[in-house]
Amino acid sequence: MFDIFPLAKPFLHILPAETAHNIAVCALSRGLLPPIKTRIYPELSQDILGLTFKNPVGLAAGFDKNAVAVNSLLKQGFGFVEAGTVTPLPQAGNPKPRIFRLSEDEAIINRLGFNNNGLDYFIEQFTKRDVSLGVAGANIGKNKDTKNASEDYVRGLQAVYPHADYVTVNISSPNTKGLRDLQKKEALLELLAELSKARSDAILKHKKRIPIFLKIAPDIDRGECENIAESVLLGGIDGLIVSNTTISRVALISRKHSSEEGGLSGAPLFTLSTKVLAEMYKLIGGKIPIIGVGGISSPEDAYAKICAGASLVQLYSAIIYHGFSLVRSINDKLPAFLVRDGFANISEAVGSKVRTI
Ligand code: FNR
Repeated sequence: MFDIFPLAKPFLHILPAETAHNIAVCALSRGLLPPIKTRIYPELSQDILGLTFKNPVGLAAGFDKNAVAVNSLLKQGFGFVEAGTVTPLPQAGNPKPRIFRLSEDEAIINRLGFNNNGLDYFIEQFTKRDVSLGVAGANIGKNKDTKNASEDYVRGLQAVYPHADYVTVNISSPNTKGLRDLQKKEALLELLAELSKARSDAILKHKKRIPIFLKIAPDIDRGECENIAESVLLGGIDGLIVSNTTISRVALISRKHSSEEGGLSGAPLFTLSTKVLAEMYKLIGGKIPIIGVGGISSPEDAYAKICAGASLVQLYSAIIYHGFSLVRSINDKLPAFLVRDGFANISEAVGSKVRTI
């Protein structure tokens, strides 16, 4: 099948990263990108938290912040798409330039700062989705100037609840001052209690229960992992997403842009985010599912995340370097990895490299 990406890439990569991104999202939102034909592999399908994922490969948050292209993105072969991060009120984010390509490393540094059109616009767009195409989640955050973070997350949860298949509570962007402090035990337990109460009300109101995922940073030590694991199990969170971008700067080849401030994503994030994923999987003991994200740029990377404890995976940066055909390549290769390792399906492979029993 004809893949337009190799032709488009040189033009897109001449442009500033954010301009190229906006063109891609605009084209997708207008249905200008042809759908990618994909095969259905029964061994890749999973029922998780009441949702059916036709394959385990999802688009990570941040690509479609305003939910304008959910249908077209699902047609690129993803099993699920996470839109957002959306904040209650529209906000402009940090001054430009604020997205940088580190091409030699197949990495990105961004310091966008939750630029988005706000909840009202997000809902208007999100409700245009075709539910038959796949699972769609909504990733919620807080406005920069909000003092009481919980209020923003509760507002986000209430607004997206009737429409989304799942909600992700993003407390791990490095580009909103103080946001990652919400990962600390006391603050986290307080936030999760508010969310749990808001969800109970929403269940009664909308007569359905949707899962809540918590998205965490990779820049946490063993003690912080333990605190988060304990808090999510106590706080009624249904799943974890590991991880967001890193503020660390692991051995980068690129000279250009490598010292820009912001969160680093793409290939150099793989080792760190997979280490934290495995750590969290061990601590959580399989009690709740984990979505593994960070540096996936090949079928082998996706499978490594699954074996490290991910029931599902997501990617973003590799799309910028390889295009959407990567999603199909991953799904086409995973069945052979399962056969090679003697697993009948994805679920059997989850955590196989870190399981202690
Ligand atoms: C992101 N990411 C992100 N995450 C999130 O929860 N909310 C967001 O709004 C954004 N925004 C965003 C913008 C840009 C330009 C990038 C590159 C990333 C983080 C993203 O979802 C993912 O967690 C990381 O990028 C790691 O995955 P990859 O990119 O290494 O596959």
